[in-house]
Amino acid sequence: MTEQGYFTEESSADVVISRNDQAKDKRLAEVMEVITRHLHAAVKEIEPTQDEWMQAILFLTETGHKSDDWRQEFILLSDVLGVSMLVDAINNRKPTGASESTVLGPFHVADAPEKPMGAKICLDGKGEPMLVKGRILDTDGNPIAGAKIDVWQTNDDGFYDVQQKGIQPDFNLRGVFRTGADGSYHFWGAKPRFYPIPDDGPVGKLLGALGRHPYRPAHVHYIIEAEGFETLVTHIFDPDDDYIHTDAVFGVKQSLMAKFRHITAADRISTEGQAGAFYEVIHDFVLAPVI
Ligand code: BEZ
Ligand code: FE
Repeated sequence: MTEQGYFTEESSADVVISRNDQAKDKRLAEVMEVITRHLHAAVKEIEPTQDEWMQAILFLTETGHKSDDWRQEFILLSDVLGVSMLVDAINNRKPTGASESTVLGPFHVADAPEKPMGAKICLDGKGEPMLVKGRILDTDGNPIAGAKIDVWQTNDDGFYDVQQKGIQPDFNLRGVFRTGADGSYHFWGAKPRFYPIPDDGPVGKLLGALGRHPYRPAHVHYIIEAEGFETLVTHIFDPDDDYIHTDAVFGVKQSLMAKFRHITAADRISTEGQAGAFYEVIHDFVLAPVI
């Protein structure tokens, strides 16, 4: 027995929390106290039947079974619950003027090849060519030289290369670029498409049961690193995408909208050495200083 007495419906959270009072790790004790309090409150509000509680246990079991070194179903669960974006927001409060972050997602690869500025990263020739360009700046508007820009996107079928090994060329639509003295960057990708997050597991089933779709609006991922600045993990989004207001993982922010302009003028097509119309996206990023 504890100071709180035996376990009752009323005292449940206090009794469990006081049992942890010898914990050596104070942060763990604090985290478990908050989780216990909120979890007990939720159970009291929901009043689940035994069958409903078992359904919840089986859902979590299936989520674990679906996960392996490559597929992380618990991260997907955190994504669709909005928790990934909330943790991201808490850990990336930026000074005024700095670019905002969004979710990393599961499709980044650490060893994408470094390419010369202006390189074509679309290796499968699918989709409409897209010139992406802009500058990496500090919060005073000065260019940042030597910034490393790691980009990745889906192909025209809505898949990342790592989802279609043996179908797409390795490192299709990925590249690492480094800015020169003027802080500018540009590369040639392909216009991205909306695509579903992996939805063949319990999280996909949950979305279906909730009447939610699994789609993310078309976007291009960036990780931007530069010495003396906070690393920025972000995307740019196509504001005209059908799913721009209902991203399955809540990653869209107003400041991350970029205009995907369709360029059809013959002089621009020939200056850029293109065979036909292409898309152009111009987006600057502002990095926050490390304090
Ligand atoms: C992505 O944008 O690559 C992504 C983010 C969260 C879940 C699945 C995919
Ligand atoms: Fe993505």
